[in-house]
Amino acid sequence: MARATKDAVHHPVFARFYARLSVSAEPRVGPVRDELLAGLSGRVIEIGAGNGLNFAHFPTTVAEVVAIEPEASLRRFALESALRAEVPVDVVPGAAEALPVKSEAFDAAVVSLVLCSVRDVRRSLSEVRRVLRPGGELRFFEHGRGGGRAMRTFQRALDRTVWPPLFGGCHVSRDPVATIRAAGFEIESVREFLVPETGPRLPSSYCVAGRARRPESDDGDGHGGDGDDDDDDDDDRTVS
Ligand SMILES: C[S@@+](CC[C@H](N)C(=O)[O-])C[C@H]1O[C@@H](n2cnc3c(N)ncnc32)[C@H](O)[C@@H]1O
Repeated sequence: MARATKDAVHHPVFARFYARLSVSAEPRVGPVRDELLAGLSGRVIEIGAGNGLNFAHFPTTVAEVVAIEPEASLRRFALESALRAEVPVDVVPGAAEALPVKSEAFDAAVVSLVLCSVRDVRRSLSEVRRVLRPGGELRFFEHGRGGGRAMRTFQRALDRTVWPPLFGGCHVSRDPVATIRAAGFEIESVREFLVPETGPRLPSSYCVAGRARRPESDDGDGHGGDGDDDDDDDDDRTVS
């Protein structure tokens, strides 16, 4: 397997913040991770694995997880999580836009809270499609645009200003389901929910979890848009 030599993402302050926040959110988010990964088997690639909180939730029917993480600090946490996991996890540097793995090598791919942060959503999903075998499954848990008109306007304004620099390149106005569909996946199920479920709605509260599939008859010829109607498209389409 080829290894990336240079980190495509460098957010050390966000990485420390996320490592703490995500662990404290685990009582609420852990059940979503269980739902996300239930029933998976064979070889699985996880893209943007962060500090590796999904690892403990992979069922033992999974033979191997290749966990791609571009941010060095988060990758170190992920390596620790991998040691505690019940399934074999190989933590690998690399970015979603150029996955350092062979084509059609995986039975399933997992993205959780990642499509909001990648620089080029369309290219990332095209890569996911490339590395999945035809008929392979994409499991997703993402946040995106939601709420009423005022919230959506606010989300777009945040994406053009303070949100990405404050939160490690995250965007809140993307549309993950539309993006996945546009990338040529067949959507099999989607559940919409809020995180947190109660209390004030945050710009990042509007979540979806679901399953999609690379069509069996896929010739690997990607198409579609990036599902991102914010005005910072130049940034979204640039790969470092
Ligand atoms: C909010 S964290 C989510 C981490 C983890 N997936 C989870 O569910 O807790 C976003 C993750 O996306 C990663 N990321 C950002 N840009 C990326 C890219 N271009 N390719 C792959 N991962 C990326 C970040 O380094 C970070 O680990």
